[in-house]
Amino acid sequence: MNFVGKHILSVAQLSRSDVEQIFSVADKMIPYAQRQRITRVLAGAILSNLFFEASTRTRLSFGAAFNLLGGNVLETTGLASSSLVKGESLQDFARVISGYSDVIVMRHPDAGSVAEFAESSRSPVLNGGDGSNEHPTQALLDLYTIEKELNYRRKSLDGLRIAVVGDLKYGRAVHSLLKLLKVFHNITVHMVSPPDLRAPERVIAELQEAGHEVRDFDQLELGIQAVDVLYVTRTQEERFSSAAEAIKYKGLFRINQAVYTQHCEPNTVIMHPLPRDSRETAQELSEDLDSNPNLAVFRQTDNGLLIRMALFALILDVVDKIEFHSAPVAWRADPKKWEQPPFD
Ligand code: NCD
Repeated sequence: MNFVGKHILSVAQLSRSDVEQIFSVADKMIPYAQRQRITRVLAGAILSNLFFEASTRTRLSFGAAFNLLGGNVLETTGLASSSLVKGESLQDFARVISGYSDVIVMRHPDAGSVAEFAESSRSPVLNGGDGSNEHPTQALLDLYTIEKELNYRRKSLDGLRIAVVGDLKYGRAVHSLLKLLKVFHNITVHMVSPPDLRAPERVIAELQEAGHEVRDFDQLELGIQAVDVLYVTRTQEERFSSAAEAIKYKGLFRINQAVYTQHCEPNTVIMHPLPRDSRETAQELSEDLDSNPNLAVFRQTDNGLLIRMALFALILDVVDKIEFHSAPVAWRADPKKWEQPPFD
């Protein structure tokens, strides 16, 4: 697809060649994200970052990506401090904010709200997460990370075996990731969740229609065997009707080094969209895995910058206009070093 001026609301918009195009532009962004080079290609452009739900990495990563391309970022956070609490419609809101902005990122607690906002926006809108529905840029950065990690292990996305673990009902990151797997071939997905937190039927059906193999597990130890990637998620407690309801599921599946060593194949990649819940009641991904070189969670967050830079560059049509300046690194002794996977 031609990305120029397009909204990115759902991974359903993306074909395999779209995904590959985004990944190839993301690769070109590495020297800029690592501060070896600088560019001002988006000088004068404004991103409005509208975050009406809790966020740190997604919001800052969109902002940093835009800044790294030389653009300026406006931000607002929290519904309580927005004019939406005065009864303003998403339509009016979109007409106003899109006049201030060249591109908009929005996160909102209601499924479908970002698409509704986009209908009235005069500027392209990227979905930063709409309720439990979708989180398309997270899925892209996850898939980009999976591809890189598998490359080091001499494997490819086609043929991927992945276990998704935890709250598959409300987790929008995992919804988008599973939907995006449709464009690849011969995927095996282990769905590891309590029966009440299974992935939506539609998501499962789409994987099966694409010819992929879907297996259900309610026991962690069985579900995490014989996979290349373990994608662990947080219980989305903010989406449950009560804290008491959420507490039933928190801490049910805990992956630590001992569980990993006993049940996973050697070098199984460990991923999580973050934030992981490190409280005693949860610990879905134990901190004792931090020294395991297969833990890719911080490579995911680094890659998020590249994917978001690539999307901005494609949507604002500057991919071929990026000027290559050496970074005047007076403000930093070394180029920013990123964690590398422990393979040749
Ligand atoms: C996820 C989200 O907000 O959907 N976080 C993120 O954007 N990286 C996952 C989560 O909050 O559990």
